[in-house]
Amino acid sequence: MAKSKNAFVCDACGADFSKWQGQCSECGAWNSMKEVRLTAPRPGADARQGYAGSAPAKIQALQDVSLEELPRFSSSLGEFDRVLGGGFVPGSVVLVGGHPGAGKSTLLLQSLCRLSQSQKALYVTGEESLQQVAMRARRLGLPVDQLQVLSETNAETIVDLARQVAPRVMVVDSIQVVHLSDISSAPGSVSQVRESAAILTRFAKQSGTVVILVGHVTKDGALAGPKVLEHIIDCSIMLEGGHDSRFRTLRGHKNRFGAVNELGVFAMTEQGMKEVPNPSAIFLQRADEISAGSVVMATWEATRPLLVEIQALVDSSHAGNPRRVTVGVEQNRLALLLAVLHRHGGLMLGDQDVFVNAVGGVRIVEPSADLALLFAMVSSFRDIPLPRDLVVFGEVGLSGEIRPVPSGQERLREAAKHGFKRAIVPAANTTKEKIPGLEVIPVKKVAEALACI
Ligand code: TYD
Ligand code: MG
Repeated sequence: MAKSKNAFVCDACGADFSKWQGQCSECGAWNSMKEVRLTAPRPGADARQGYAGSAPAKIQALQDVSLEELPRFSSSLGEFDRVLGGGFVPGSVVLVGGHPGAGKSTLLLQSLCRLSQSQKALYVTGEESLQQVAMRARRLGLPVDQLQVLSETNAETIVDLARQVAPRVMVVDSIQVVHLSDISSAPGSVSQVRESAAILTRFAKQSGTVVILVGHVTKDGALAGPKVLEHIIDCSIMLEGGHDSRFRTLRGHKNRFGAVNELGVFAMTEQGMKEVPNPSAIFLQRADEISAGSVVMATWEATRPLLVEIQALVDSSHAGNPRRVTVGVEQNRLALLLAVLHRHGGLMLGDQDVFVNAVGGVRIVEPSADLALLFAMVSSFRDIPLPRDLVVFGEVGLSGEIRPVPSGQERLREAAKHGFKRAIVPAANTTKEKIPGLEVIPVKKVAEALACI
């Protein structure tokens, strides 16, 4: 029998203490301590390699550790598999986060209904009634004959019932409504989320079941009860995309079994979530007439290139403090580029409002967008549209040099595939092999690049 002990957990930040305090010494919140019962994990229960109560703990040489491929299995959705790093790993815990209405329940129901045709799957719903789930599955035309469903919010009951069914995959929708009866705070509070997740994780590790936890994010994009889950789970995946856009991106934030920042793209349609295997095509739907301030760049998303349109609007400012607004690219990067543009491009935008946007709700996290941002800003400032068939990428250094970026060849190929005829890229990224139909213009300095406009 596992030993339990009591601890005090801050409801605001998830830090735990052995004694009650009026103010949390981690985050400074007042009156946020809640007493919780901590169940000590069983030996070997947290083993990351293998599962099913893994072999008894023993010390061995690193070289003796078996390198057998983790036996993955498909989620039945290619884009979901891609973000998972090739499918589900037995015994892993996956967190799927997103704003309410992003499509988490729809996506997972689709995945599980199809997957249940070949594997035992259990869908635990705490938010919607079983009728609602059944209605949705029927309306979407999903196979409903094999999927097991359960409407329950008590973590211990969920685990007890799941043990009887022994599913290979279990979805818990959502972790914020799951609770333990012997914790007094409300479902969704940090202590409830943390202890419920711990019990479900233990179940995953012991039984080899893949447990998928659905988590809602708060307005500012953080997962509710976030820190507490971060170290428990193996994979954290976010489903992003606004209500105004049909497209949803699935992005890996943490993955113990694969690459992070992998991107899967879906479209929300009448028939549920549809996979978009060629995302460049959708992010590139451009108007017939290209206006000033728009340029296409080739970014790199973990394992594949993606063409994205970057837009800028540079306009004289009426405020004392000109505005610098970025959507989908880093704000600090913009400040840096404006300084480089001034010093090395001789262009003064100090009295201008600057807005930049990565079209389609994509978020670009790598510096290869620098050159495209420069081009978009200069194009808007001078009011000169750039050619439709131009693609640009490259990092800009503080001394005005254009630095190479990884996977230049693949980016250029993707551009050529989508009909681009000209590419302005860092000199070090020009390839020895010529790509048919694509003229590659190498640049070394900002001034040189701007002379191409
Ligand atoms: P849902 O999966 O319930 O979101 P979440 O679980 O993340 O809160 O998706 C809800 C939204 O998706 C809702 O706004 C309606 C829309 N939707 C469609 O457009 N088409 C569909 O086929 C389905 C099932 C939902
Ligand atoms: Mg839902």
